[in-house]
Amino acid sequence: GKSGYDHYMIKEIHEQPRALRQCLRERVDEMAGTVDLDDLGDLSPTGVQFVACGTSYHAALYGAHLFREAGIPAQAFLASEYATSVPPIGDALVIGVTQSGETADTLSALRAAEKRGARTLVVTNVVGSTAARECDHAFYIRAGPEIGVAASKTFSSQLAALNLLTLGMTQGDDTREVINALRELPGDLQRILDESSAEAVAELYQDAGAYFFIGRGLQFPVALEGALKMKEITYKHAEGFAAGELKHGPLALVTADTPVFAVVIGDDEKARKTVGNVKEVEARDAPVVAITDGQTDVHRYADHVLQIPETHPRAAAVLANAHLQLLSYHTAAKLGRNIDKPRNLAKSVTVE
Ligand code: M6R
Repeated sequence: GKSGYDHYMIKEIHEQPRALRQCLRERVDEMAGTVDLDDLGDLSPTGVQFVACGTSYHAALYGAHLFREAGIPAQAFLASEYATSVPPIGDALVIGVTQSGETADTLSALRAAEKRGARTLVVTNVVGSTAARECDHAFYIRAGPEIGVAASKTFSSQLAALNLLTLGMTQGDDTREVINALRELPGDLQRILDESSAEAVAELYQDAGAYFFIGRGLQFPVALEGALKMKEITYKHAEGFAAGELKHGPLALVTADTPVFAVVIGDDEKARKTVGNVKEVEARDAPVVAITDGQTDVHRYADHVLQIPETHPRAAAVLANAHLQLLSYHTAAKLGRNIDKPRNLAKSVTVE
């Protein structure tokens, strides 16, 4: 049941701290500062290709970024596009990301890769799913069952799982730092769920004409996911953009009727460039909501701030996303939408 919550989605949003703990349990050796992937055998890939759909594709974009940070060539593909022109695989590992393990597009992409001799691994929530049975290796995210059509806790758990995978397979410089950030993540997330002012922001902008989400680097998939969730459950127009792409077209859409949600983490050059993009939309009178750890002066250009604590940017992505989940959920609730079963959508898409 919904254990007193109005919808499965909000219940599942609140289950995230626990889901993350389950994902990390027994896989991280905190004393040694290492991640245990023994059950997967020896997997030191020279390259990685991700295939996935929807929310899982956003997780895959994040995962590809992590591998590249560790010096391993990696790319994320939409599963439905992968088979239309299978890229040269070489001895790359092909990783499917799929909550259900049953998504037809993802299964065909994995099969196409397998046919070309690739090793395959799936990151999934469902033990015994088709993908788990067909791939050479399965990494379970252990988020627990997700009933809401909109993926919420499984996305956060996918991000955590992809951190574990990269830490276990590569020699990152900041393994210890990432492990510490992951350990603090469930507690930090709990505080956001308790304190987020996303509902008040949802109230203010529930009648907006469209919603735009921007982010750079690791926060770009967060922007895409913020927009997908918004369109899926509110039926309103929402788009996520790489912050740097705004001025290459989308800026023409920005008006006082289109709130822009900007994810700004840290205070490096990337973050400062995104603040520059925020100034551009502010100058077009768009309401600005900054999802930020407060390290830049983005608050000066924002109408509202959804605060996250300072942490590793990889963990920050999960925290920023939690605010955006609440934003979409509360907007949809105010609009009276069928949140757990949005029109035209199914939890598991088993046709191509
Ligand atoms: O089960 P999967 O992770 O393979 O599903 C992929 C997409 O169909 C799924 O993420 C979809 O985009 C969700 N409804 C998003 O909330």
